[in-house]
Order: sequence, then C-alpha cells, then structure tokens
Amino acid sequence: MEIVILPSAEAIGALAADAVHELVARRPDVVLGLATGSSPLGVYDELARRCAARELSLARVRGFLLDEYVALPADHPQRYRAVIRRELEERVDLAPDAVQGPDGTAGDLPWACAAYERAIADAGGVDLQLLGIGTDGHVAFNEPGSSLSSRTRIKTLTAQTRADNARFFESPDEVPRHVLTQGLGTILRAQHLLLVATGQGKAAAVAAAVEGPLSASCPASVLQLHPHVTVLLDETAAADLVRLDYYREVYAGKPAWQGL
Ligand code: GLP
Repeated sequence: MEIVILPSAEAIGALAADAVHELVARRPDVVLGLATGSSPLGVYDELARRCAARELSLARVRGFLLDEYVALPADHPQRYRAVIRRELEERVDLAPDAVQGPDGTAGDLPWACAAYERAIADAGGVDLQLLGIGTDGHVAFNEPGSSLSSRTRIKTLTAQTRADNARFFESPDEVPRHVLTQGLGTILRAQHLLLVATGQGKAAAVAAAVEGPLSASCPASVLQLHPHVTVLLDETAAADLVRLDYYREVYAGKPAWQGL
C-alpha cells in the first residue's frame, strides 16, 4: 500500500487524474470504477479540465459506479447515477451509456445485483477503482460488519452514514435506509485501488484502514489484502497515522519510472 500525503485537495485531484490519464494514454478503452461523495470531486474537476483542453479523451472509456441508493425516484437528483452524470459525464467526452450503476429502482434487487456483477465481469473487470472512505470506515456502502469477501448486494446504512450523507438531502429523514453496493470482494478484484481522503473527519478511519488490524469492523482495512493500493491524503486526513514520516520518506525517494 502506498500512502501519499499532499498539500491540498487540488493536488490530490491532479495526481489521481494523472493516474487515469496515464492509463487511458496506454489503453484508451480502460474500465474505470467511479466513486461518488465529496472526495472524488477534485479528481472529476481535473479530468473535466483536461478533456475541455483536449489534453485527454475518455471517449472509449467505460465506467462502473460503486453503489446506489434503493428506491429513490428515477429522477431524484441525489441518485448516484444522476450525481455521476452531473459531476463527470456531462463535463467530459464519455460515450452515452458508457457508465453503469447498480439499479436501485429494480423490482428484483437480488437479480439486479447479480446482473451488475456479470456486467463488470463481461467488461473485463475494473482497471482503476476510485474510492472514498466513510467516517465509520466504510468503502462504497460496505458498512462495518460487512463480509470481507462480499459481492454486490443490498445493505442497510448505519445511522452515522445517514447523518453524514444528510447534507445532500433536504432533511435527514429523506436519506434512504437501503442501498445496493459492490461488495468488498468485488472491489478487491479491480487491478488498482486509488483511495482519496481529505479533512480531519477522515483521520481516524484512514488510520484504522491503513494501520489497524484487518477487520470487518473497519471495512476499508480490506485494502490491506490488495496488491496495488494507492492512498492519497491531505495533511489533516493523514494526521492519525503512526508511520507518517516513513510514508513521506518512501514517496520522496520513489523512482520516477515507478508511477502510481
Ligand atoms: C458515501 C459513499 C462512499 C463514499 C463515502 C464518503 O456514503 N457511498 O462511496 O466514499 O460515503 O463520502 P465523502 O467523500 O462525501 O466523504
């Protein structure tokens, strides 16, 4: 696991966009795993800027969302499918239908989850997966206690996650209780995991994920099992890490050929 501490959300966005950019330059038809929430917005801003400047094209890229609320109306602006359309698709040159998400409006939710797993596999799997982390250590919507080998399925949000996400809704009661989410086992199948976290509110969860024991009590700790993980943090999100000096030394002395 590589830990990179950067001075700002903009610097994090630029470095994460570099990782996407280098991958797309090598293979224009890569599959990106897309996260929602506030954390990846700097990455999407930078990808949008590079596409507008014609430095980058995502025309052949495909994308898969991590998760989705269950039973929000199809036209609700906080459906993750709608969020990613606004924050990314409408600002870059992704093809129409290039992005898919789990269908939280489906009548048969288990079938929709299985179909989503098949769609990811049929696309050849995810090459680069963007991730955020919840204050309770969740990734995607895998709440504490989630099976470390889980696949896409329905989950119930914790009160803490519903409170954290209430800022996107008109009232806390409007935050759905149920969600569909890629499992931790699904996420582990991506080739490269790129986790982004900023702000003091994430410091404890980041420390538990990176330096704590591997445990379903901190779902993000499952990243310790993956062979290629990059964690991009600002100073405040990194503040509770014990090996902070070591991470800085490793990154400062990293050979230029290595990339992220
Ligand atoms: C949300 C999303 C996650 C996200 C996390 C943190 O509930 N389902 O994918 O990483 O919580 O969100 P934010 O980046 O807004 O802090």
